[in-house]
Amino acid sequence: MENEKTVLITGATSGIGKALAHQFAANSYNLIIVGRHSDTLLKTKEELTSQYSIKIWNIEKDLAQDNAGQELYDEVKQSGHTVNVLVNDAGVGERGKFVDIPFTKYSEIIHLNILSLTHLTSLFLNDMVNRNEGKILQLGSIAGFQPGPLLAVYHASKAYVVSLSEALATELNDMNSDVTVTCLCPGPTDTNFFSKANMENTRVVKQKDKLMKEPKEVAEGAYKALMDGERLYIPGATNKIMTFIRRAIPKSMQANIQKQFYEQVEE
Ligand SMILES: NC(=O)c1ccc[n+]([C@@H]2O[C@H](COP(=O)([O-])OP(=O)(O)OC[C@H]3O[C@@H](n4cnc5c(N)ncnc54)[C@H](OP(=O)(O)O)[C@@H]3O)[C@@H](O)[C@H]2O)c1
Repeated sequence: MENEKTVLITGATSGIGKALAHQFAANSYNLIIVGRHSDTLLKTKEELTSQYSIKIWNIEKDLAQDNAGQELYDEVKQSGHTVNVLVNDAGVGERGKFVDIPFTKYSEIIHLNILSLTHLTSLFLNDMVNRNEGKILQLGSIAGFQPGPLLAVYHASKAYVVSLSEALATELNDMNSDVTVTCLCPGPTDTNFFSKANMENTRVVKQKDKLMKEPKEVAEGAYKALMDGERLYIPGATNKIMTFIRRAIPKSMQANIQKQFYEQVEE
């Protein structure tokens, strides 16, 4: 149908990306869901199709590999889809001292969190600008506003995403384009991120009940912010206030405060 819309979501098989997939599906979007594993993609597709009357296409892609962004774009174009909304959700981190983590891990984080995100943004944004229609949701983080000792490369990657997104929002505004870019910057959210990032015994995880939001709540607010064309969306009053206060204090102090959340704590 002519007025059908399609959203492409990277990292749609888990956590915030999956919660976003539910939001878009509940709002009658067709979905292109992207992840590394065919089994989790299939499970996610089955879960969504059992609840919503929409079309879903799965694409298996490791976005930490060279040229994966181009390959994904080409596959989407070849199957004739128009992507009305791009959600760059897939992202990873790795806890530890910078000197203790091998460069291959940083390469993976930078490829996924920065290179593929930028490549997909570049390719799909061009199409959107040509149509003067479309929206992009970038997964930043409140980590993007401060240095993060023991999670240094992850924080730096999210600073890049926030900066890129804010700059693009201004460029699009200056062009009087109807296309918008929104940067979603969640605080700690209860997903598999922490176990995958070797963070299970850290303060942030141990204080889960106090600190963490549910992915559904984050996704609901993000969907609304995206539809309203907001530039930046930080879920929750505490995260907003903490980010505002932290921006006003010296970086060295910010780093010392942040480090405490990533230290190992006793059982
Ligand atoms: N959780 C938080 O506290 C938090 C806070 C702020 C921002 N964020 C950001 O939110 C985004 C989603 O994280 P999450 O917390 O929802 O984590 P998650 O539950 O671990 O989900 C990560 C998703 O990314 C996919 N993914 C990982 N590596 C990939 C790769 N190389 N290629 C393609 N897909 C890949 C995973 O699918 P497969 O493993 O099946 O490929 C999964 O669907 C990330 O960008 C993260 O930085 C999270």
